Parts: sequence; C-alpha cells; structure tokens
Amino acid sequence: MGNQSIVIGITGGTGSGKTSVSRSIIEYFSGKSILMIEQDAYYKDQSHLSFEERLNTNYDHPFAFDTDRFIKDIKALQSGEAIKKPVYDYANHTRSAETIHQESQDVIIVEGILVLADERLRDLMDIKVYVDTDDDIRIIRRMLRDIKERGRTIESVIEQYTTVVKPMHNQFIEPTKKYADVIIPEGGENKVAIDLLQTKVSHFFQNKEG
Ligand code: CTP
Repeated sequence: MGNQSIVIGITGGTGSGKTSVSRSIIEYFSGKSILMIEQDAYYKDQSHLSFEERLNTNYDHPFAFDTDRFIKDIKALQSGEAIKKPVYDYANHTRSAETIHQESQDVIIVEGILVLADERLRDLMDIKVYVDTDDDIRIIRRMLRDIKERGRTIESVIEQYTTVVKPMHNQFIEPTKKYADVIIPEGGENKVAIDLLQTKVSHFFQNKEG
C-alpha cells in the first residue's frame, strides 16, 4: 500500500455506536501508529451567530460541516503532515477557539454521521464501514448521552430528533449505506465484526513493518 496512511471511514446514524467501534480499534492497537479524527470537530464555526440562531441550526445536514477543511486535513495526514484539528463545543453549539496539534499516523480512522455522504471523502478511504443499529436503540442512547454530556433537556432531544435528526437521517445518512464495504449490525456490541476489522488493520501494520 505504499508509504501513505490508510484511511478507514466509520459512519452510521446518531447513537449507532460508531464511536465505540472506532475506540475499540484504537484501543486494540494502542501504542501503534493510529489516530481517530471526528467529523463533529469540523462543524462550521458559528461564533458570529447568536445562541438562538445556533440552537436552530440543522446539524444533520451536509451543509453544517466545513467539509473542505475536513478533506484538506485528511489529505495532509495521509501524506504525513501534522494538522491543527478544530475542537467543537456542544454546549455552546460552535467551534471553540482552541485547536489540537495532531501528528500524522499510519492508520487514520475518520468517524461521523456523514463521512460517506461526500464523494471526495469516500475517494480518500481504503475501507468504508456503516454501523447499522435500530432507530429505537439509537434514540435511547442519544437521549441519555445528550442529557448527560451535551447539556440538553429531554424535551429538547425529542423535539430535535423528531423535527430534524430523523428526517435528515432518512434523507442523507441511511442512503450512504450503499457505499459501505462493511455493514456492522449493532455497532460496539458486534465483537465478530470488530475482530474482522482489527485483523484487516493488523495485516496493514504487518505489511508496513515487514
Ligand atoms: N449535534 C447537536 N448539536 C450540535 C451539533 C451536533 O445536537 N451543536 C448533533 C447532530 O444533531 C448529530 C449528532 O450531533 O445528529 C452527531 O453526533 P453523533 O453521531 O450522535 O455522536 P457520535 O458519538 O459521533 O456517534 P455514536 O453515537 O454513533 O457513537
């Protein structure tokens, strides 16, 4: 595979478990040259908007992301350069002022709801994964997480899910399943599928080292 890094795209709806799948791989290869880059970090900067306007933004539409910067950063990492990764602040609905210095690694995991929605992103990927989890499980997980970690109320989660998240999922996220090389039912719980992905990545490291 040459000297370039390999890029693994991991997508799926909100609460599908794509973060768990990505973390399982990262943890399995801890100490190896591997990194994860979240599409969420590339939500557009909204600091010029009022809090009310930011609250009303559709965060499940491809337009919500600064995809040009995301692509630029993945390409830089792929060719061995470091990047300044943006940091997203969920409680304030905007990009925070800080950035994180990220060195390139041999394996790059790209994770997010719409990473397979843009052809330019898909073209950068060596392996494309869709984590496929039932809608009821996803909404329950999202509700618990958003209340605990993202400063939301139960009412706001239900309102956002029914008016925005669900229709956008059906329109933009679910249709990207057809681009996946691998579809993983029940995300982080699917040990067999995670094991297969780890084997694939192990082979890549062996080729690189040997
Ligand atoms: N989102 C939000 N408010 C923002 C920005 C994003 O509520 N200011 C929501 C979007 O509605 C989108 C979700 O964040 O649906 C994307 O994150 P999600 O996929 O739920 O989280 P991950 O941890 O990446 O994924 P998973 O639950 O599958 O592990």
